[in-house]
This record gives sequence, structure tokens and C-alpha cells, in this order.
Amino acid sequence: MINCRICENKIKPFMSFGKMPIANRFLMEKDIPDEYFFELAPAVCDKCQMFQLIEQPDPKDMFHESYAFFSQTSSYMSLHFKRFAQFLLEEYLGDKNSFVVEIGSNDGVMLKHIAASNIKHLGVEPSANVAKIAIDNGVNTRCTFFNKELASEILQEHGAADIICCANVLCHIPDLNSVAEGVCRLLKPNGLFIFEDPYLGDVIEKTSYDQIYDEHVFLFSVNSVINAFLPYGLEVIDVEPLKVHGGSMRYTLGRRNKHIVSERVKTQIDKEVDLGLSLPITYDKFKRNCELSRENLLCILESLKKQGKRVVGYAATSKSTTVTNYCGLNSSHIMYIVDTTPLKQWKYSPGAHILVKPYEEFKLEYPDYALLFAWNHREEIFLKEDEYLRMNGKWIEYVPLSIMDAEK
Ligand code: SAH
Ligand code: TMP
Ligand code: ZN
Repeated sequence: MINCRICENKIKPFMSFGKMPIANRFLMEKDIPDEYFFELAPAVCDKCQMFQLIEQPDPKDMFHESYAFFSQTSSYMSLHFKRFAQFLLEEYLGDKNSFVVEIGSNDGVMLKHIAASNIKHLGVEPSANVAKIAIDNGVNTRCTFFNKELASEILQEHGAADIICCANVLCHIPDLNSVAEGVCRLLKPNGLFIFEDPYLGDVIEKTSYDQIYDEHVFLFSVNSVINAFLPYGLEVIDVEPLKVHGGSMRYTLGRRNKHIVSERVKTQIDKEVDLGLSLPITYDKFKRNCELSRENLLCILESLKKQGKRVVGYAATSKSTTVTNYCGLNSSHIMYIVDTTPLKQWKYSPGAHILVKPYEEFKLEYPDYALLFAWNHREEIFLKEDEYLRMNGKWIEYVPLSIMDAEK
């Protein structure tokens, strides 16, 4: 038993995915013997309903000067964030004195549009290499971790914020209470806190268990977000399901009793009741579904191995670290993984130690089968890889499990 990261209630994990390495730490051969492992085991607090990891590596070991995730590698996500910036500019940042703070601004994918409109802004981004790209793009960035102390510093230096926002960041921060306190300190009385993250409801419905990895210390639901922010006087006033990253939710929060609460909040809570998100039996079932997914994927890959087929992994995603390690995949199943990120290329994947090659290798010699690790970017990828199917290549997907060829 350990304490819930939010409310300190006693919690215990409902399953374990076993020992896992750091999902975004791609290794040189010499680093393999010293690779760090921790136990990847999720729990759900029966008091505040927060889905969380019982153990997480030190954030400084995950977010640093050679962080391997660059937001702008996905053209679809770049467009998504451009649209979000336009929405903020039109709806909330009309006043020239407006001030927006983004937590986890990465390479400036969103804030560069705000900067181009000459609106006062600040990105907070601890990973120095990605922060540098943002700075080079004219985005004001502080290279550090956001917490309540930093919020007070920003308040003193720049004043209160109209909008505080983040995407795919909040679920990474283990001390969520400090972030909530920080948001409470930094937000203007009528300001809004808007964030989006992968949605627990989608993970349960789709058995997309690969959303569970070291960085994702939480998977949020509307219910758990309400409970986490209530002690800080912040209430959820709107929610919006999003298709990105395999199913996300955008939450809008404001100070309590200052805003009209949208009907959508109640509708989504009702959906969560129907999904059984607060019932232990839901997680027993999820565990069995994960085991089934593992058996089926392994069965396909073992069979292809026996047939001597050439199988390549498509995109060395963070999520693939959970899949390869949980399913026991190695380079006997997957010859190599192709990825567009130079920092990952010619290194070995975490834990499974499958070589990552530049994306161009895929085009150079199409494999018989490509295992789609970046299933959350499937539309974008299928659009650009139509030739692969025409050349008789087949996609293997595991959310849900399927093999797709040109006839389909
Ligand atoms: N918002 C971007 C990046 C998401 S990746 C997008 O959606 O594409 C998560 C980012 O959060 C990383 O760049 C990481 O360095 C950053 N991060 C992690 N902990 C943080 C913290 N405490 N404060 C601010 N940023 C943090
Ligand atoms: P993520 O799932 O951790 O967000 O990482 C996405 C990875 O997928 C990143 O390393 C870049 C890679 N990628 C490709 O190689 N090709 C693509 O077309 C896309 C969209 C992503
Ligand atoms: Zn709790």
C-alpha cells in the first residue's frame, strides 16, 4: 500500500506491466548494461478516483537536455496546435495586454503562433534541447519545471495570466497538487486554465494500454480532474473530447462560481458512470484485456517469424516501449524500427533493444509487415504511405488488433 499522489488515501496497484525502462531513453550499445528499470504498475484511488502509477522515475531523468520528443514532428499535431492558438487569440487574447502561460511548451509548436501575434506569453519547458528550438522561433521560454514556487516568481515578474494552458503535460507531473496551487496563484480572477491529455475512458474502451508508461504518471477522467482541483478553488467548467493521441479530453477550469458550467461536463460524467470508471471490476476486465491483446500480438509475430517474413516497427514512440517490453518483443520479431527523429536513430529501443533506423530505410526496402507503433497518428501515416499498401505491404495494428492489406 502506498499513498494516493492526490489525496493521500491508501492505494494499491490493480496490475503490473513488469519492469520497464525509461520510455524515451534510446540507448547507445555501451549504455545498455546500465539501463534503469522500474516497476510499471497502475492503481486507481477509490476516494478521489485518480488513475496513477505507483512508481515513476525521477522527472530529471526523463526531461533533460536530450529529450527525444519534438512536438513538431507530427504535421497533424502542428495543425491541431495552430488551431488551438487561433482559438485562444480569437476568444480570449483580444486585449493587447493579455498574458498567456504554457506549461510544457516543448519546441514552441503552439506558442510560436501567439508570439507571431505579438501577445505577451511565456512557455515553461524543462527539456533544454526542445526549449532551444522554441527560443530560436521567437518564443519566450523559461527552461525549468513548473510548480507553485515558479508560479509565484512568474506572477512577480510578469503579473497574473489570462490563460494558463498545457497539452500532454499535466499527466506527466507527479506533484499535481503543486501545479494546482501554482495555477491558483498565477491565474487572473476571471482567467482560465485549459489543458488536454489522453483520456482514461478511451484507454479503457480501446485497451490502449500503451498510454501507460513512465511519463504518464496520471490518466485523467473528468471525475478525477474535478476532485484534484476542487481543493484549490478551481472547477471544471467545460470538457471537449478530442480525437488526437488516440482519444484525449480538453478540460477548461476557472475559479469556482465565476463561470457558467457547461452541460457537457455532466454529460461526460454520466458517460464515465456508464463506463464504470470508478468500479474495481472495470480494471479487472482491463487487465484481462491487456493480457489478451499481448497474447494475440505475440501469436501473430511468432507466426510471421516462423514464416520468415520481414517485420519492421513503424515509429519508435514512447508507447512502443510499453508494448515491446510487456509483450516480450525483441529483434527476432521486429528487425528494426524506423523513425523520423534524428535523436532516436542508430540507437537501441528502451528495454527491447531493437535498432532504430532513419525513416528513409522504410522507403528503401519495404518490409512484408509494418507494426504501427504510432497508431495515434494513423490517418497522417496512412495518407503518406499509400504506396506501401499498393506494393503489397501489410500493416499490423494492435489498437484494436488487425492486419490490413491492400484488399481492405
Ligand atoms: N505540449 C507538447 C509537449 C508534450 S511532451 C505537445 O503536446 O506536443 C511533455 C512536455 O512536458 C515535455 O516537453 C517535457 O519536458 C515537459 N514537462 C515535463 N514536466 C514538466 C513540468 N513540471 N513543467 C513544465 N513542463 C514539463
Ligand atoms: P510519441 O508517440 O511518443 O508521441 O512519438 C511519436 C514518434 O513517432 C516520434 O518519434 C516521431 C515518430 N513518427 C514517425 O516516425 N513518422 C511519422 O509519420 C509520425 C507522425 C511520427
Ligand atoms: Zn486519491
